[in-house]
Amino acid sequence: MRSEPAKGKGFRGEMIAVCSAKGGVGRTVITTNLAVALSKSNIKVGVIDGSFQFGDICLALDLHPTFSMKDVAESIETLDAFALSGFLMHHSSGVKVLAGPERPEYADIITGDIIAAVCDLMLQQHDYVLADTGVGLQEKNLQIIEKADQIFVLTNLEMATMKNTKLMLETLELLGLKDKVQVVVNRSSMESVIQASDVPDILGVEIGMYIPNQFQIVSQSLNVGIPFVIGQGKTDVAKAMFRMADQLVSRREISLLKPKPHSIFHSLFSKPKLQ
Ligand SMILES: Nc1ncnc2c1ncn2[C@@H]1O[C@H](COP(=O)(O)OP(=O)(O)O)[C@@H](O)[C@H]1O
Ligand SMILES: [Mg+2]
Repeated sequence: MRSEPAKGKGFRGEMIAVCSAKGGVGRTVITTNLAVALSKSNIKVGVIDGSFQFGDICLALDLHPTFSMKDVAESIETLDAFALSGFLMHHSSGVKVLAGPERPEYADIITGDIIAAVCDLMLQQHDYVLADTGVGLQEKNLQIIEKADQIFVLTNLEMATMKNTKLMLETLELLGLKDKVQVVVNRSSMESVIQASDVPDILGVEIGMYIPNQFQIVSQSLNVGIPFVIGQGKTDVAKAMFRMADQLVSRREISLLKPKPHSIFHSLFSKPKLQ
C-alpha cells in the first residue's frame, strides 16, 4: 500500500518527537536508524536535530552540513517550505536533515516561535518528521513535543533513567499528552538489576517497543556514520528498528484510511441504500 505523497500546502505529515529523561539513552541512534528504516521512494522522511546545543545527527549520518538551524533562524522572516528545503542536508537514503547549529552558543537564537514554524514547514513536505531532542522537558523540547503526533520516550534499564523516566511520564500526563506517548525500552537485553519484563510495572505503562543491546554494532555504526539499518540490516537491533518503522507506517495508513465524516451536502443529496 502506498503512503500518501507529500503535497506541499495543505498536506501534513506525522511528527515524532524522540525524547528521554536522561542523556545517552539512544535518542540519536533511534532517530537516525528509524528515519532511514522509514525512508522509501514513496515515503518522504525529514529529521530535525532538535538537540540545539550538541546535536550529533549529522555525525551519525556522516553528513557535513553547509546549512543549519542557525541559517534557518536568520531567514525566518521570509521562510517558506521551498526556502526551508534549500537548508536541508540530503542523506543517501533519501532522508532530509535539518542540522543543529554548529556551535552551542547559537542555540539561544532558536526561539520557540522558530521551532514551531520549522516543524510546520517540515510537515508540509514530509510524510514523517522525526525530531531528536535535548534531554528532558526543557522549554525547547516542549515546543517540539507540542507539535508531535507521537512522543517516543526512551528509557533503558538503569535505575536513574527509570526514576527520571517515571517523572517525565507523570509530567507528560499532567500536560494532557499521555495518549501520544509510547515508551521505548532501549538496550532491553542489557544486564541490570531491573529486568525488561519489570518495566511496565515500574513505569505503569505498556511498552511500545523493546530494542536489544548490541553495543558493538551500534557504537561502530555511530563512529563511522553509517546507520546499522543500512550496514547491518540483519542484526536483531536493526530488525527491531524495521519493526518500529512498520508499526508507524501501518498505524498511519489505518488513520488515513478512516472514512472522513460526510459533509452536510453529501448527507442531503446521497441516495438512500436499497433494502
Ligand atoms: N540498542 C543499543 N545497543 C547498544 N548500545 C546502544 C544502543 N543504543 C544506543 N547505544 C549506545 O548508547 C550511546 C548513546 O547513544 P545516543 O543515541 O548518542 O544517546 P542520546 O542521543 O540519547 O544521548 C551510544 O554510544 C550508543 O553506542
Ligand atoms: Mg544525541
